[in-house]
Amino acid sequence: MTPVVHFHDQHLPAASQSLCEELLAGLAASPKVCSPKFFYDRRGSELFDAICCQPEYYPTRTEEAILQAAASEIAEVVGRDATLIELGSGASRKIRLLLEALRPACYLGVDISRDFLLECTRRLAADYPWLEVHAACADFSRPMVWPDGLAGERPVAFFPGSSIGNFSPEEAEVFLDGLAALLPPGGGLLIGVDLIKERKILDAAYNDAAGITAAFNLNLLERLRREFEAEVEPKRFAHSAFYNAEACRVEMHLVSRCEQVIRLAGASIPFAEGESLHTENSYKYSIDGFRDLAGRAGFVPQALWTDPDALFSLHYLERAA
Ligand code: AVJ
Repeated sequence: MTPVVHFHDQHLPAASQSLCEELLAGLAASPKVCSPKFFYDRRGSELFDAICCQPEYYPTRTEEAILQAAASEIAEVVGRDATLIELGSGASRKIRLLLEALRPACYLGVDISRDFLLECTRRLAADYPWLEVHAACADFSRPMVWPDGLAGERPVAFFPGSSIGNFSPEEAEVFLDGLAALLPPGGGLLIGVDLIKERKILDAAYNDAAGITAAFNLNLLERLRREFEAEVEPKRFAHSAFYNAEACRVEMHLVSRCEQVIRLAGASIPFAEGESLHTENSYKYSIDGFRDLAGRAGFVPQALWTDPDALFSLHYLERAA
């Protein structure tokens, strides 16, 4: 039997026209920037999935261990029959660690990578026949609404993986504020947040020996070629990732190996040798630092879980009444 996924098409991401405009604006800025959401075409989603099982990339396995160990405690605070909404659901793997304990009334996966989303939510629906599964293709960095017809008593957003780290703290507060507005009082947020730690561990996590993170970063340029017919030679750029302790963030860049000009949608964009295109920030928080930020957005801490080495944190917060 073909598993049923309720697909919500009204949540289509911005048309490629405006994506291209967004890319061009970033390339015209100085220093040059590009939003990390552009990483996630199909190939990018697969590469990110591969990053998650690299030995140096501790966030995924650490968060999964926390979810596994805390599943029944999480179920206690979240309660049964929730409407579980995962933002950036990707492969929909982490939610599997919670479903049996949580027994939600329905699950909605929201992701920017449309085909990947459909495939992964279909697999989820096949593996959990008792679960009502929905999928919405959306760019959650823009204003959103929940689709109609979701079963459940109370919406609970699930935002794992420290994806919140892609926003600056100011943007994160705006984002959480918007999320709070989508939740009724008492609605929940289960969110994974990567913690500030030794530089050595962070630098290694974003420079894995197998070169998967480098391939993920460089895939952005491949995507520009594939999807936007850009004239750009990925080999002329180098992957760079490092912890910026002052800003509490890991930065990823694509550094031009030579003086060159790339072309996109009729525009010529010059790069000096050593000039960088800033492709990602991944902010790290202290537990109190994140709680303060979420508090300013109207969330009240309810529960917190971490691993023995305090690498990663999982917060459960509720929208204030
Ligand atoms: C998906 C944003 C949480 O910042 O660690 C992994 C993305 N970039 N390796 C992160 C990423 C390079 C990841 N987030």
